[in-house]
Amino acid sequence: MKLVGLVGWRGMVGSVLMDRMQAEGDFGLIEPLFFSTSNAGGAAPSMARNETKLQDAYDIEALKRCEIIITAQGGDYTTEVFPKLRAAGWNGHWIDAASTLRMKDDAVIILDPVNMPVIKDALAKGGKNWVGGNCTVSCMLMGVGALYKAGLVEWMSTQTYQAASGGGAQHMRELLTQYGTLNAEVRALLDDPKSAILEIDRQIIAKQRALTAAETANFGVPLGGSLIPWIDKDLGNGQSKEEWKGMAETNKILGLGEGFGSAPIPVDGFCVRIGAMRCHSQALTFKLKKDVPTADIEAMIAADNEWVKVVPNTREATIRDLTPVATTGTLTIPVGRIRKLAMGPEYVGAFTIGDQLLWGAAEPLRRMLRILLD
Ligand code: HSE
Repeated sequence: MKLVGLVGWRGMVGSVLMDRMQAEGDFGLIEPLFFSTSNAGGAAPSMARNETKLQDAYDIEALKRCEIIITAQGGDYTTEVFPKLRAAGWNGHWIDAASTLRMKDDAVIILDPVNMPVIKDALAKGGKNWVGGNCTVSCMLMGVGALYKAGLVEWMSTQTYQAASGGGAQHMRELLTQYGTLNAEVRALLDDPKSAILEIDRQIIAKQRALTAAETANFGVPLGGSLIPWIDKDLGNGQSKEEWKGMAETNKILGLGEGFGSAPIPVDGFCVRIGAMRCHSQALTFKLKKDVPTADIEAMIAADNEWVKVVPNTREATIRDLTPVATTGTLTIPVGRIRKLAMGPEYVGAFTIGDQLLWGAAEPLRRMLRILLD
């Protein structure tokens, strides 16, 4: 059995990864070696068999023992440890949830239901660095990858509705705390059915504007009852880094663009943080290269992989099945609102949702492990 190092397994993405690996029986196929950045020598979790002590995640010699390392520890860890490990001559497979290495030429962005040929090609050429994609991009391609695979997309615009979890565990807590603070502010008025709604509204906006630095420490501004139309760094050209990733990563996943000797497909739009917990949603506008009947588009999307689910474009089905609440905690990627837009027959709209901790983070990592074990 291959010795597989696990780093960052205790954090939010790591915990989801551990749950999925247990559910799929992955631990029966490997000898796990658990690492810790803070508790080396402590007891490894129950999935450990022979290696029951936690190893130091900064100990290059200990890491070098592993044939495969999976890390959800974060970008700072990758930046510090990965170059040292390679410089020390380690030639194993590195599977990483962080974005640090994503755009490197020798790294593949892994999303095998979408880009198995790209992964297989890199494996055949001796590839060793496998990096999970941006959650928004991965969830989008799990939903509508069929249109890209068929070569139908001339360009795509995406407007995102991204959950608090994309920022991290503390962001989820902050959002809920803000909701609670706002509710508490007007509870007496809410309990009185005769109270004036504009008075409730006035008190809420006053409270939102008065939230302290501690109450907005993670998002920087209130998110509960509001939204934030900027995610990740300011690239200085009017675009956020999250928006930049949309085009860069979509093309790299598909094996298109500069590094592959072809023209990239333009992907652009606005990335917006909203008060959802862990599902990223996106409204997509496609310009297709030709007029394809809506029923054919639906059939292609539905047939692409076993997780995508086309939601009929009716009010009833949409409000039942095409929401973060319906999707959270599942691997299902609903795609709905599929319809031709007023701009012309090649313009198609769709709306899709994915659990950003599952397809957007943990699932592609454990699936890459399975590919390496095959
Ligand atoms: N950048 C994403 C977000 C996180 O902030 O929602 C996962 O890639």
